[in-house]
Amino acid sequence: MAVNMTKQNRLVKEPYSAAQYESRINELMSKMTVAEKVGQLNLESCDDSEELAEWNMGHPVNPGEITERIRRSSVGSVLTRGVEKANNIQRIAVEESRLGIPLLFGYDVIHGHKTIFPIPLGEAATWDPELLTKAEEWAAREAYADGINWAFAPMIDLCREARWGRIAEGAGEDPLLGSLIAQAKVKGMQVKDPDTGRPYVAACFKHYCGYGLSEAGRDYEECNISERTLHMDYMKPYRAAVDAGAMSAMSAFNVLNGEPITASRRYLTDILRGKYGFEGFVVSDYDAVDELRYHRVAADRKEAAALAVTAGVDMDMASNTFLENCVALYHEDGRFADAIDEAVRRILAVKFALGLFENPYFKDVPGFTYAPEAAELARDVARRSIVLLENKNDTLPLKKDKKYFLTGELADTEYDMIGTWATRHPGAQIYTVKRAMEDGGFSFVYHPGCPTNACPRGVDNGGEYYGEYDEHSFDEALELADGCDAVIFVCGEYAAWSGENAARVRLTLPDSQQAYLRALKAAGHTVITVIMCGRPLACPEIKRLADGALVVWNGGSEGGRAICDCLFGDFNPSGRLPVTFPYHSGQVPYYHSVLSSGRPRERFKRYRDCRSAPLYPFGYGLSYSEVKYGKARIENPMISADDTLLVRVELENTSDRDATETVQAYFRDVVSSVATPDKKLCGFVKADVPAGGKVSVTLEIPAERFALMTTDLREVVESGEFLLFVGRDSTCSDAVSFSVK
Ligand code: NOJ
Repeated sequence: MAVNMTKQNRLVKEPYSAAQYESRINELMSKMTVAEKVGQLNLESCDDSEELAEWNMGHPVNPGEITERIRRSSVGSVLTRGVEKANNIQRIAVEESRLGIPLLFGYDVIHGHKTIFPIPLGEAATWDPELLTKAEEWAAREAYADGINWAFAPMIDLCREARWGRIAEGAGEDPLLGSLIAQAKVKGMQVKDPDTGRPYVAACFKHYCGYGLSEAGRDYEECNISERTLHMDYMKPYRAAVDAGAMSAMSAFNVLNGEPITASRRYLTDILRGKYGFEGFVVSDYDAVDELRYHRVAADRKEAAALAVTAGVDMDMASNTFLENCVALYHEDGRFADAIDEAVRRILAVKFALGLFENPYFKDVPGFTYAPEAAELARDVARRSIVLLENKNDTLPLKKDKKYFLTGELADTEYDMIGTWATRHPGAQIYTVKRAMEDGGFSFVYHPGCPTNACPRGVDNGGEYYGEYDEHSFDEALELADGCDAVIFVCGEYAAWSGENAARVRLTLPDSQQAYLRALKAAGHTVITVIMCGRPLACPEIKRLADGALVVWNGGSEGGRAICDCLFGDFNPSGRLPVTFPYHSGQVPYYHSVLSSGRPRERFKRYRDCRSAPLYPFGYGLSYSEVKYGKARIENPMISADDTLLVRVELENTSDRDATETVQAYFRDVVSSVATPDKKLCGFVKADVPAGGKVSVTLEIPAERFALMTTDLREVVESGEFLLFVGRDSTCSDAVSFSVK
């Protein structure tokens, strides 16, 4: 049974535009004072979570003052969560402010809300957009039940810079996979209430634009991307989110090609609205309007407000820069007045589209929080996100009746299992690996084994280490391991090492874990490594030493159970890498679709001290089955630029286990007017292949996917010969040829 993932995901754009609500907006705006209009552009941060306090730089939460502002119509939205709190705040806006305009309640809902799904990079490893739509629907329901009607999600920044901590929040390196997931997530987040026909929650895709190439991975720093690459690759997921009808977007913190996005009319208005047709509203990132002063493009807060509002920022997140300056700007210059009026219209349109004027309060929705189906889905997404990297001598799956030595601090820490952002949603039931093994009744002993992060005693390699180890540090653990049949070593990164402002310079397993792995192997153990991470890791010692290896990301609240499903064979791993795993940190940025070089890597070595190839390529992932690919056949090898290429391939599962394959197609434009990649993803299909069975799979690839970006930024499918590579990952080399007329 083959599921086609190419066409199904094209969505029809929903009209959430001011034009749709024109008469209601006009009527309301005719009654609004300038100050009330400006109030709509102001987001107040009213979140009391500890983590947010850290970002609250200079704006301590003062609920009394914020309440007063809401009463005076100086607030359009609030960053907060909690249904009772939200309804109380809404009551002030609706009943005590002059015009009773309801508020939006925004919050970060990045990978589930109460029921936590794997981090988005892990979700992307499922290569299953439809599944992610369902996951996002649950995130939306749980968010709504927690007093949120506007989610700062999905995060869809394409990222090829693995040092950047926020790679964990997105879908990885590829524009096609990223775009299909962006669409799927917007659709899921804006799932409609069957009673009203309106979304419970407005999506806010972020961070527009180009944030995913923060220089050297340092968050908040500049991004330099050629305009051609920007439009060919980095912009694609944002555009897909617009096409999927996202009601809002968040502008990014970064400077892109010299322009702070928050002040860029070119990116926010000319491209996002003019070229892509975005009709929702744009909110700045947290404090970013005021930060234009630190970019030194604005002399003071007033100039910062003027720049941002004329660039196309409609709402100021948390800095109060608009609140303090936009009334004066409105009276000073018609340009500002027009921009402010436009912004108000866009924000009101979303409030109308959500039905807030009719139903401002969050209704009680039994069954929305911690639904058993949501937990089941979270477990399913988590196990489908797991990527089997190594399985030497078919060590996996493990037998259920043996005794195991479970080791590694990360096997027993809830925070690391749920991953970045999730701790802001307290209350989740979290299955660590240890808890899941206890619940599953497996026979095991546990010892943390080695500190997650330590370096050899006496060595300073520039890190902020929490511990040191020496040759005796593992003695106790090794003794315990001796009484067991095999070792399950949960290793990798702390969750806090990825996410916002959490870059790393070393993409390796920490020194202590490498030494511990060596010690376990030297003692003659069979070692399965369960790698938790929020980014691709450069971990050649896993390839060399581990008998079995699974990448499990930060798997969410059901992560431990999903890991056990894969370890013990109740589920056959099917995840595929959505990012290239480098051999060494020094190779990044590293991704599969680099432009062709005059001196190809196979012939001209790039490094003196490292191989050029990646450790594990984009698209890679094993299973417990043996699935053979037949030769791909193109049904229509001569197409025109608006056709769909039809490709068939036979799969044969010669093992005794059912498998799910992700059949991937990559293309090469043989000779073109500009440099193009040697190989780039152009389609994929998930196919269930039963044990001992054969399946014929069809890929439908719209010809527009073979387009190149010209130097004047036009997407063109040039006529001539193309090659198509079909296989299990981006290294597949069997090519078939086709032509575009
Ligand atoms: C800053 C982050 O960059 C953004 O992703 C988030 O939505 C806001 N803070 C609000 O929490």
